[in-house]
Amino acid sequence: MKNRKVLLAAFGFALAAASVAPAANAADGEKVFKSVCFMCHQTGAGGAPVFGNKADWAPRIKQGKPTLYKHALGGFTGNNGTMPPRGGGSSLKDDEVKAAVDFMVAKAQ
Ligand code: HEC
Repeated sequence: MKNRKVLLAAFGFALAAASVAPAANAADGEKVFKSVCFMCHQTGAGGAPVFGNKADWAPRIKQGKPTLYKHALGGFTGNNGTMPPRGGGSSLKDDEVKAAVDFMVAKAQ
């Protein structure tokens, strides 16, 4: 009887771990945003589109994700200011930068 309880507990833990896994990407995007991108995108410093501001983001989202990724990874200068390559986080992996783009886009839709 006691063993059975232990087994059930282990099974429950495995299930919990499995259900957490798919959320990992979203969490990374938020983490990257909070460590690098927020410096400009939280307040709009330097002309950056503001986090969660739909009017700021709508015309950018219209360009499509491939363009947003390209600009976030390689940097770009638009009418408002300059987005530095990888937001200045030069050690960030491509996937981390893209996850941060996904995170900002998701919060502005
Ligand atoms: C030093 C300030 C700064 C930081 C840090 C920064 N950005 Fe930006 N970002 C900008 C500015 C300014 C623009 C707008 C440029 C323009 O349109 O004139 C911009 C625009 C963008 C855009 C829209 C591109 C487009 O095509 O319209 C994306 C996507 C973006 N940033 C992603 C990121 C991500 C992801 C990070 C963090 C890894 C980040 N930014 C960090 C300043 C910054």
